[in-house]
Amino acid sequence: MAAEILKAEGVTKRFGALTAVGHVDYSLREHEVAGIIGSNGAGKTTLFNLLTGYFRPDEGTIRYKGRDITRATPQERVGLGMMRTFQLTATFDNLSVIDNLVLAFFRAHRRSSLLHLIFSTCRKHRAEPQIATALETFDLQSVRDRQVMHLSLGEKRRLEIAMAVLAEPEVLLLDEPLAGLAESEVKGVLDVLRRRVGRQTILLVEHKISHVKDFLQRLTVMHEGRIIADGEFEETLRHPEVRRSYWQIDPAAEGGEGSHA
Ligand SMILES: Nc1ncnc2c1ncn2[C@@H]1O[C@H](COP(=O)(O)OP(=O)(O)OP(=O)(O)O)[C@@H](O)[C@H]1O
Ligand SMILES: [Mg+2]
Repeated sequence: MAAEILKAEGVTKRFGALTAVGHVDYSLREHEVAGIIGSNGAGKTTLFNLLTGYFRPDEGTIRYKGRDITRATPQERVGLGMMRTFQLTATFDNLSVIDNLVLAFFRAHRRSSLLHLIFSTCRKHRAEPQIATALETFDLQSVRDRQVMHLSLGEKRRLEIAMAVLAEPEVLLLDEPLAGLAESEVKGVLDVLRRRVGRQTILLVEHKISHVKDFLQRLTVMHEGRIIADGEFEETLRHPEVRRSYWQIDPAAEGGEGSHA
């Protein structure tokens, strides 16, 4: 079995009286493709923020390759090899697709400061082979010169993932990368993610599961700040507590497959 790469041990995060994540143990192995699902408010994004350093846990430890990173900032974690998808605000909406890729590439590889790049124009860096590969891999070639503000949401998501992947992270973390996408765009985003399998550890937080069932090797279900099941996809979905809490299937009644599919 592959080595553990990222691990949360007994992490808790409270917001006032609310325990958003309570004493959660969770770990990811190298090159694993894992998913976390759960209903609204289950604590998925909070756990994601704890793993990526956007929140400090009230209790517990986060480790990266055995090293305690509980107090490391998001930037320090990026430096260690973790990368979450950029929020849409991290794209430069008035620049073209290709120039966003150039900026992400150079920011990640620290070849030049962002300001220097902006003032020197991106033009001369557009020929980098990694940029060409990213355009191809993420199916952005046809929109390469389009301003980001004119992209569809699906194209923007592919760009975000491409920007994250250009940093060559060891762990790629995505919080609801499929949210708000049309059916046709979901396929495009999953296709680009599928091409990363085996190269990176991938953690995907999703609200709905029907789209990701062929993609994930492992599934974890959260409910009210706790992990209620973890393991192989179908087996996890059949877990009695998942049927009760996530699918809201009354064990006494039959049929009625909840509202999450
Ligand atoms: N910054 C915050 N301040 C106060 N409460 C918060 C904060 N972030 C999350 N919460 C609360 O913590 C709980 C867990 O929220 P979280 O966003 O982690 O859930 P989630 O599983 O990602 O839900 P969703 O599927 O809606 O994205 C919720 O009750 C939420 O209202
Ligand atoms: Mg969330």
